[in-house]
Amino acid sequence: MKNSKIIGLGHYVPEKVVTNNDLEKIMNTTNDWIVERTGIEERRWFVPGKDTVSNMGTRATKIALNRAGLAAKDIDFIVFATITPDYFFPGSGVLLQRELGIQGIGALDIRNACSGFIYALSIADQFIKTGMYKTVLVVGAEIQSSALDKSDEGRSSSVIFADGAGAAILQATESEGVLSTHLHADGDYAEELYVKDPGSSRETRLSKELLDGKTFNLTMNGSAVFKHAVVRFSEVITEALKQNGYQPDDIDLLVPHQANLRISNFVQKQFKLPDDKVYNNIMHYGNTTAASIPIAMSEAWEKGKINEGDLICLAAFGSGFTWASALIRW
Ligand SMILES: CC(C)(COP(=O)(O)OP(=O)(O)OC[C@H]1O[C@@H](n2cnc3c(N)ncnc32)[C@H](O)[C@@H]1OP(=O)(O)O)[C@@H](O)C(=O)NCCC(=O)NCCS
Repeated sequence: MKNSKIIGLGHYVPEKVVTNNDLEKIMNTTNDWIVERTGIEERRWFVPGKDTVSNMGTRATKIALNRAGLAAKDIDFIVFATITPDYFFPGSGVLLQRELGIQGIGALDIRNACSGFIYALSIADQFIKTGMYKTVLVVGAEIQSSALDKSDEGRSSSVIFADGAGAAILQATESEGVLSTHLHADGDYAEELYVKDPGSSRETRLSKELLDGKTFNLTMNGSAVFKHAVVRFSEVITEALKQNGYQPDDIDLLVPHQANLRISNFVQKQFKLPDDKVYNNIMHYGNTTAASIPIAMSEAWEKGKINEGDLICLAAFGSGFTWASALIRW
């Protein structure tokens, strides 16, 4: 059986930088509060009329293809992770496919929020391991800023979430690559972090009452998310290490979903990992949901922090609740 290997990474973030000081001007918050509770100093918000979820995914993909030494026509299948698609339907995968000019190949959308990229990576890995496809594009892209309640009422979540895109090209290999992926969910907590509308199970999807309410905005129970996240991150990283017979200090680089710097620091401490073995960039990009891991991996690779033979651990937790990990021999 073949393995799958990541042979190219790319990312794109919108040019519009929104600092904590910018947020102070539109809601009752402070730079100190945001930095202390989340670690975020600035984030990117999309530029309306320029950025879309699919075109940011396309830009990230073109960089990843270039680094892999491949052309778009070499891609056999697309897995696109997003919870903020351009349209209610069809998914963003087909839009990305059209932008890349590779009509005809399959395109699948994954809606697993912050764990979406690892779920998508796992699907790509299975398709390659079974021999169905040789080269699979995995994208995570989000525009969260348009779902945020930027009033005082929504400040605890609107300071956290942001926009961007990342892409990885997976290809079949005879050597090691993705060693294992681990996917979990617990729907009991679906409403702890969600966007309720425009839901389909209401008589009218759009009504004046709905528009006057806040149900189109992202809603998060921050303390419930925090409590579950620290437990699940640790569990799912331990599961990946155990399955492959490794110890925490075998990890060369942990790339956690950039949920919140306090969560990443907590996980780092639990596994006693030194600072240079954990990659965080939430300070500059905020939490970009499914895009956060591929953006972080792409940036870490650019900085020379991911090298041939390294043991890379990815881990995520988010809405659903969902949580996931992947262990990769680079
Ligand atoms: C969201 C989060 C930062 C809030 O921090 P917290 O310590 O739980 O803060 P609380 O919600 O209890 O609020 C504490 C106080 O800060 C205030 N506050 C909330 N947001 C604020 C903001 N942006 N600026 C200033 N004050 C704020 C609250 O109103 C509250 O004030 P009060 O004590 O007068 O009522 C924290 O719960 C968290 O990090 N959760 C995990 C979020 C996460 O990782 N999400 C991504 C999942 S993928």
